[in-house]
Amino acid sequence: MTDSPELTNNPLRDARDRRLPLIAGPCSMVMFGVTGDLAKKKLLPAIYDLANRGLLPPSFGLVGFGRRDWSHEKFAEYVHECVSQHSRTEFREEVFAQLRGGLRFVQGSSFDDTPAYEELTRVVKELDEERGTGGNHAFYLSIPPDAFPKVCSQLANSGLNSPDGQSWRRVVIEKPFGHDLTSARELNDVVEKVFRPEDVFRIDHYLGKETVQNLLALRFANQMFEPVWNAKYVDHVQITMAEDIGIGSRAGYYDGIGTARDVIQNHLLQLFALTAMEEPITFDAAELRAEKEKVLAAVQLPADLGAHTCRGQYVGGWQGGEQVRGYLEEDGIGPDSRTETFAAMRLDVNTRRWAGVPFYLRAGKRLGRRVTEIAVVFKSAPFLPFQTSDTASLGQNAIVIRVQPDEGVTLRFGSKVPGTHMEVRDVTMDFAYGSSFTEASPEAYERLILDVLLGDPPLFPHQREVELSWKILDPITEYWANNGRPSPYRAGTWGPDSAHEMLARDGRSWRRP
Ligand code: BG6
Repeated sequence: MTDSPELTNNPLRDARDRRLPLIAGPCSMVMFGVTGDLAKKKLLPAIYDLANRGLLPPSFGLVGFGRRDWSHEKFAEYVHECVSQHSRTEFREEVFAQLRGGLRFVQGSSFDDTPAYEELTRVVKELDEERGTGGNHAFYLSIPPDAFPKVCSQLANSGLNSPDGQSWRRVVIEKPFGHDLTSARELNDVVEKVFRPEDVFRIDHYLGKETVQNLLALRFANQMFEPVWNAKYVDHVQITMAEDIGIGSRAGYYDGIGTARDVIQNHLLQLFALTAMEEPITFDAAELRAEKEKVLAAVQLPADLGAHTCRGQYVGGWQGGEQVRGYLEEDGIGPDSRTETFAAMRLDVNTRRWAGVPFYLRAGKRLGRRVTEIAVVFKSAPFLPFQTSDTASLGQNAIVIRVQPDEGVTLRFGSKVPGTHMEVRDVTMDFAYGSSFTEASPEAYERLILDVLLGDPPLFPHQREVELSWKILDPITEYWANNGRPSPYRAGTWGPDSAHEMLARDGRSWRRP
């Protein structure tokens, strides 16, 4: 097969990349919660970016379902506004014009409005006929989980969940997948009563990030890392997801949920699983999941949850030159809220590879800066043959996967300081996506929406992974619920003192990312 002239003549194209892009076939997407913040800032722009990159079929249809009294045109104006403000790629009117032809809006007074689903069925059929979407439809539920039962049963009653002939119907659900193991199972029962398990796509947007996928490449496409990726060489692993923002206007969602359920149950435990799992036989979804599930099932919680987990809540402080409020002063938060905005925990893994190597996870809002990274920290060299050196300053080697921002990988190792003394100091060697590749990384949602339309499941967590993650978290959140309040930490710092004490107890300290 030869490349098209546009591909071969593009000076920015890496000549070694002979792959043709995967393009979604004829289909449409129905979006519930289309006027929400996620749709506005991420989902609609991602759809435009896919169209702009030529990865959507020209006939693509997008149906918004919402309460507003909007015509199709008014909806198209709304999408135009969201996309022109938030798209990653350059906004081009001609690309939008193509997309606009497939935009429709269906008004429903509630998620249980039966006549609205009749109208939705009619609109979707019309798209099939007018634009040739082939009966292939994805239903994106960007709505609170308590609305899932209504939407699912209405989709079933109107027959929208059942494909005919060769066509497909898929459902996309956003986290939170419940708030504990029991509720996660209940939620799944609701969804899987209506859609086949293989047609359910659970979004964990961290899996759509290039750097997270690169973790698999780093580990399994190279010979030099995997031999040392085990308890013989690794001292411990730190996984950090720090945000500088507070909860903004999300009090309604966040309060009562907290950091552990918001990001550890999903994003951090997925990063953990990808870091700790064995090599899958292939990157087929079932093989990948099997390895992630094994390592999640092998997690051992600390015997003393008070000593090896901790939580915090931000109080007012200074951040980025601005004075910011504490959590309890945020709009919509009661003065007695015990919701944590910082969480940290030690997990051990009962496998031959990892026995004795602690994994420390931490996440929080209003921390020193926005950074997500996985740091694999190695044991110190067993013997240092430098008679004249000051070895006190020599740290441990580390491989740091910089998930965001400044995406890349850093290796830290000791190097000789120029001069007559044999003095060794830590230096770093960096790989940065920005300077090694000409093409900017797509947004996670671009990748994930495209994979839904292609029916490609490896980057979507399976229900069993979700359940195993809740099994890890439930004893911790239950312990917290029965043991006092989160410790305060000043906005703009790196969490409560208890987080530092937690590592100090193990003779270690958190990295300053
Ligand atoms: C979401 C959480 O899943 O991830 C938010 O609900 C968090 O609380 C967000 O702010 C962070 O995503 P990212 O991609 O900006 O790291």
